[in-house]
Amino acid sequence: MALFKMKEEKGEAPRILPAHVGIIMDGNGRWAKKRHQPRSAGHRAGAQNFRGITRYCAGLGIQYLTIYAFSTENWARPAEEVGGLMRLFKDYLEEALRDFMDENIRVRFIGDPSAFPPELQALMRRVEEESSVKTGMVLNLAMNYGGRAELVRAARAFAEDVRAGRRGPADMEESLFSDYLYTAGQPDLDLLIRPSGEQRLSNFLLWQCAYAEFVFFDILWPDFTRADMDRALQIYASRQRRFGGV
Ligand code: FPP
Repeated sequence: MALFKMKEEKGEAPRILPAHVGIIMDGNGRWAKKRHQPRSAGHRAGAQNFRGITRYCAGLGIQYLTIYAFSTENWARPAEEVGGLMRLFKDYLEEALRDFMDENIRVRFIGDPSAFPPELQALMRRVEEESSVKTGMVLNLAMNYGGRAELVRAARAFAEDVRAGRRGPADMEESLFSDYLYTAGQPDLDLLIRPSGEQRLSNFLLWQCAYAEFVFFDILWPDFTRADMDRALQIYASRQRRFGGV
């Protein structure tokens, strides 16, 4: 498992950086409710924070950051909220693309884009394409993503390969299975951060989280600061990871 030294200028920050960090951006609705504002205001504040924290992670030298932006279950929200989120994705991706380019971030989308409005799909393709020349942090944006759907998709793709004679059933093993996932070629998750007080995985990166360290904070996502990120990294650095050993 690769562990990386943090850039020296960070002083107080922990020495051991996780290679792959996941964040579930939770609590936007409650943040807005506390302020007597519509849920859309919480999502806007959450999107703003997404930009800041992503830049911060790239500056720290984190190699892979996976952010849960929209799950396969989020379609069940009221149409008005879903529509608002689609508009927000479009506006923010357009703006955030500049950050990604400035910060040498390569963006990948994980999930099924086909359900999104065509203009959003086109923008997603453009963001992936333009940032593909970047060599710094890889940002996986999980949009219309579900962990179970990802596993089913992988199983189907493998079955297709067997049917076509490219693989035999006995070829299947853990490392090969990983190659059929959206995150093929990337390390498993080291650290999962979930703000907002909920302590569950919510169908996020089920395979990749097998040995991840979980850090749950009682902070709503729009209030999650760089100092909170540092705190999560400190907690991670203090954990003893045994990967099933002693
Ligand atoms: C969960 O909070 C948040 C979401 C379902 C949406 C997150 C999306 C963004 C912050 C926009 C990000 C923008 C880009 C371009 C990636 P919640 O609504 O479930 O909060 P609650 O549990 O308090 O109701």
